[in-house]
Amino acid sequence: MGQGLAGATFGDGTGVPLVLIHGFPLDGRMWEPQIGTLAATARVLVPDLRGFGRSPLPRGPHSIEDHARDVAACMDAHGAPKGVLCGFSMGGYVALAFAALFPWRVAGLVLADTRAAADSASAKETRSATARRVLAEGMTFLADDMLFKLLSEKTLRERVDLSRRVWAMMVDQRREGVAAALLAMRDRPSRLDLLRTITCPTLVAVGSQDAVTPPMEAGGFAGLIPGASYVEISGAGHLACVEEPETFNGAVLDLLARAQEERP
Ligand code: MLT
Repeated sequence: MGQGLAGATFGDGTGVPLVLIHGFPLDGRMWEPQIGTLAATARVLVPDLRGFGRSPLPRGPHSIEDHARDVAACMDAHGAPKGVLCGFSMGGYVALAFAALFPWRVAGLVLADTRAAADSASAKETRSATARRVLAEGMTFLADDMLFKLLSEKTLRERVDLSRRVWAMMVDQRREGVAAALLAMRDRPSRLDLLRTITCPTLVAVGSQDAVTPPMEAGGFAGLIPGASYVEISGAGHLACVEEPETFNGAVLDLLARAQEERP
């Protein structure tokens, strides 16, 4: 069952809108370095997934497909039958689930620092243990741990303000929403079979220093998507779209132009 999401729109472009789906454990504010540039070209819709940011907490356990259904309902509420879906990491899992459920609604895909494979058995155990710990202790330990995974060493060393903002956004999230999302990610299926069926313009982007979803893995699954472009963002970590927005935004603008050209 879909849940209502808080979502904001930016820009007044008339083409297919761009839907920016945040990663874990963040919210729509992570896309701030994208919105100014991309909203000059396209209408940009930025939801907070259930349990994150300003969206309501989940009413019970849910799946990544439920997140995708929420995004579809949010697009409906904003008058967007189709969209170019851009998902970062967990947002990429949601974008792929959306493409599996509603392929006719996807005009283009941006898969940013994400993966198509399911979790390994040991990753699933870590998700369960982390969900229990978040519920017991709150967000601080997770934000401390995730910051080193999200940002490259160079960003952590040289951009203290940015590191603080990302950390504060994580600490801001509610433990119930974060724990439920961990279990949804744990149980998500592999999308490797879906990749070969994707027919819309697709971009796979990854930071060259991404240790969470490394370039080797991203390049590998990009090769399974017919006609996909692949961009490695030099010097950036997992959160490449925030660390190196100029390169990331340029690649998304190219993809948007392709998606608008191919509009039926
Ligand atoms: C994210 O950045 O959204 C997470 O690292 C995804 C994950 O934990 O698999």
